[in-house]
Amino acid sequence: MFATKTITPAFTQACRTPASTRVTNPARRFLATSTSKVLISDSIKSDHRSLEEARDKIYEAYKAGDADTQRRWQNQLTWELARHSIGEELVVYPAFEKHLPDGKEMAEADRGQHRMVKEHLAKFQVMTPDDKEFIPTLEALWVDLGNHIKEEESEDLPKLEQALNDEDSQALTTSFARTKHFIPTRSHPSAPDRPPYETVVGLMAAPMDKLRDMFAKFPVEKGGN
Ligand SMILES: [Fe+2]
Ligand SMILES: [Fe+2]
Repeated sequence: MFATKTITPAFTQACRTPASTRVTNPARRFLATSTSKVLISDSIKSDHRSLEEARDKIYEAYKAGDADTQRRWQNQLTWELARHSIGEELVVYPAFEKHLPDGKEMAEADRGQHRMVKEHLAKFQVMTPDDKEFIPTLEALWVDLGNHIKEEESEDLPKLEQALNDEDSQALTTSFARTKHFIPTRSHPSAPDRPPYETVVGLMAAPMDKLRDMFAKFPVEKGGN
């Protein structure tokens, strides 16, 4: 067990509100069967709720002293965050640049925030739950990620939705979902097997233009990017 001084208000709050008691985001349920009518902002928010759920599950397992469950949700959080970040960088941030007058600055700021999150994630993903820095590293990651999520949801995505009609927004969701589809959900033998893509950090460090080329080999929906 770690010293209680590592437990912050965010940790306590997360433990008080088990993810299992929360109402599942309707957009998330819908995404399970179809992405054709989901706005891009709902799709992104649904991912954010999933990331929060994974964080909360780690906290709950930590509190219960269950290292195995912590490890499983650590993997889930790591890969979901990687997929989400790459999907945004390949699909959503280019849409900021294309459709918004200040989109280039917004995208650049968001990419900078992603870089900070990735640095924390690089440390976190190789840690084991018995490491005394495991929870503090997750909390440090979440300070940056939480602020970034707040900014995306309260500022960036509303601006983007305002600039798009529903059809264009839904087409972005399709592109976003398809991009994520080609990124593994965890590191396992069938995951990309050559450096640098065999680890999540390698994947996230991959040059975006390389990944963009890879995903550009698929049909583009009307209004998509
Ligand atoms: Fe983001
Ligand atoms: Fe995001």
